Amino acid sequence: MRGFTLFLREAITHPSTVGALFPSSKRLANTLAKQIPPHSKGLIIELGAGTGAITDSLLHQKSPQQELIVIEQSAKLAEHLIQRFPNVKVIQGDAGHLNQLLDSVSAPIQAIVSSLPLRTLSPYIIKKIGREINQVLQEGGLFIQYTYSLWGDPLAPSPHLKLIHRQWVWRNLPPARIDVFYRK
Ligand SMILES: C[S@@+](CC[C@H](N)C(=O)[O-])C[C@H]1O[C@@H](n2cnc3c(N)ncnc32)[C@H](O)[C@@H]1O
Repeated sequence: MRGFTLFLREAITHPSTVGALFPSSKRLANTLAKQIPPHSKGLIIELGAGTGAITDSLLHQKSPQQELIVIEQSAKLAEHLIQRFPNVKVIQGDAGHLNQLLDSVSAPIQAIVSSLPLRTLSPYIIKKIGREINQVLQEGGLFIQYTYSLWGDPLAPSPHLKLIHRQWVWRNLPPARIDVFYRK
């Protein structure tokens, strides 16, 4: 099934976990990927990769010293990602079990890029995801999240994340805001 049709079907059947009606635009994906310092080393984790719009930009912009691992909860979307990116490690699972999903990983995690719909997930789930992020993200690492709530408060899933940068992307449907947090 084509990415857009698959995304729409998942969005209609699981509205609160998908949290959007359209995949991310190229502009949003590229702007997100640019938040990661290009010449640093380590692992980049993408949470809630959907159809892989952001995965594609992360792959193009990352340095050879950076490795990308993608986490997606939906079995259908994870299968789509595996077919679209045969050279990327795609893990089908819940970001609320991030530490366990990344059990076999030893390299430091320098950035987590999240498409998780934090405004529609329950506070309990967000807290759980926040605790997992604290455990896996190295000190000084970045947590990068976008939201369609252009002027709302930043939604940090953990109190250990400090907002350091905000950027608006108007050419996205709907327009989005990127929040970049630093792991204290
Ligand atoms: C806004 S969509 C992602 C859109 C994606 N950037 C794209 O362009 O296709 C959010 C994604 O997060 C996934 N998701 C939601 N809750 C999750 C969780 N707890 N763990 C992992 N993935 C989750 C959904 O299945 C969905 O694919």
